[in-house]
Amino acid sequence: MPQNTAPKATEMLSATPQGLARAADLLRAGELVSFPTETVYGLGADARQGAAVAAIYAAKGRPSFNPLIAHVASIEAAKRHVIWSDQAELLARAFWPGPLTLVLPLAPDHGISDLVTAGLDTLAVRVPAHPCAQKLLAAFDGPVAAPSANPSGRISPTTAAHVRAGLDGRIAAILDDGACDVGVESTIIGLATNGLAVLLRPGGLAAEEIEAVLGQPLASRDIKDPLTAPGQLLSHYAPQARVRLNATSARAGECYLGFGRYSGARACDLTLSATGDLAEAAANLFGHLHRLDALNQPIAIAPIPETGLGLAINDRLRRAAAPRD
Ligand code: TXA
Ligand code: MG
Repeated sequence: MPQNTAPKATEMLSATPQGLARAADLLRAGELVSFPTETVYGLGADARQGAAVAAIYAAKGRPSFNPLIAHVASIEAAKRHVIWSDQAELLARAFWPGPLTLVLPLAPDHGISDLVTAGLDTLAVRVPAHPCAQKLLAAFDGPVAAPSANPSGRISPTTAAHVRAGLDGRIAAILDDGACDVGVESTIIGLATNGLAVLLRPGGLAAEEIEAVLGQPLASRDIKDPLTAPGQLLSHYAPQARVRLNATSARAGECYLGFGRYSGARACDLTLSATGDLAEAAANLFGHLHRLDALNQPIAIAPIPETGLGLAINDRLRRAAAPRD
């Protein structure tokens, strides 16, 4: 359940110029808007605003931070955020707009919130084909992070009525433009490693079609492989330093990551949210962990409540603190 969001009426918008302009304005204001893609309805937020992306997790009740797909209007728009490659060009020319997501290295100055990438140095990007999604992305003129628009653990929505049944009162608006054609999520191809194209998730575009364009077979990795299973992949990005959880203060030699009334006052100390706001804490989480990790000192972390976004934050912190080889 969302922690800080009082229930509010969810606006039903249609794919008219007025409806699309309203949806784009809401996204700019950091609000959540569900919109149709050809695969499933997405739950969109401005991918550059950490607090807006945090609100996606709160609305879905997602208990962990998985990296999200950034939806963009065109190949040109994708190139603002990722490092492009010949293989990306081949696949994008063949299948975009469409149900294909490409995972590529983040570009310098990519501008994407690290809550979208879950702290990884790669970004999943896709250009959806649905006319309503295209018009929304054109009107918004920026990257839209969007998982499927269903509460965590429920089936993906393919109509606006599905979205409403799951998320009414928890998001600002739903753009209703009928049922989705494909009905299953996009196929995800990892192009982050040199020359190797990896099938990370089967989906709405057949692997054979992708292999035909690439002229080579896709590598497929076991879901348990830490390089491809997102949940495990996160633990690979745990800080190098020792991490101590539920610490109400720092011990000698530790840097402190505070929350709410638990704070440190030394130069290396940071706080996830001085006011105890879980959405702000989520937005700061990966950036603060990276900054503290760079100091090469043990890290003590304040207690975070196990409610709302606190579940996902604590899940990530437990991964960070877990013993590793
Ligand atoms: O069809 C779709 O792809 C829909 C519509 C809304 O576009 N979106 C969707 O999003 O299915 P979601 O959040 O349910 O799934 C995103 C998947 C997750 O499995 C995540 O682990 C993977 O993409 N992913 C995102 N960024 C990644 C990255 N940098 N590396 C590896 N996997 C990534
Ligand atoms: Mg999903």
